Amino acid sequence: MPQETTLGALKDIPDNEAKEYEIEHDDETVEVFVVRKGANFFGYVNYCPHAGTPLNWSIDRFMTLDKKYILCATHGAEFRIEDGQCISGPCVGDCLAPLDLRLENGQLVLTHPE
Ligand code: FES
Repeated sequence: MPQETTLGALKDIPDNEAKEYEIEHDDETVEVFVVRKGANFFGYVNYCPHAGTPLNWSIDRFMTLDKKYILCATHGAEFRIEDGQCISGPCVGDCLAPLDLRLENGQLVLTHPE
């Protein structure tokens, strides 16, 4: 049976903002984050494909000023919210690693990769 982690309530993420979480996976702590757009949500591992740093410098700050893209604070790469694809910056064409998320009774539940 796949391992699952309940991250928290979707309503705890402000609309058009993001929230970060730490999960335990294979005896390691992994940083992940979830972006909320209304009733929709998009989650990724907090790891920039350019230089491997976390995307954010401040807690829960993942978005560009206009809230249209996910921003890497290190060198300014921008990623599409919906699929994690990098559309500007030094890693254009690369992708954030998506999370397998579902909503259950208002809670975000993550299914871990095998
Ligand atoms: S580490 Fe993210 S753009 Fe360089």
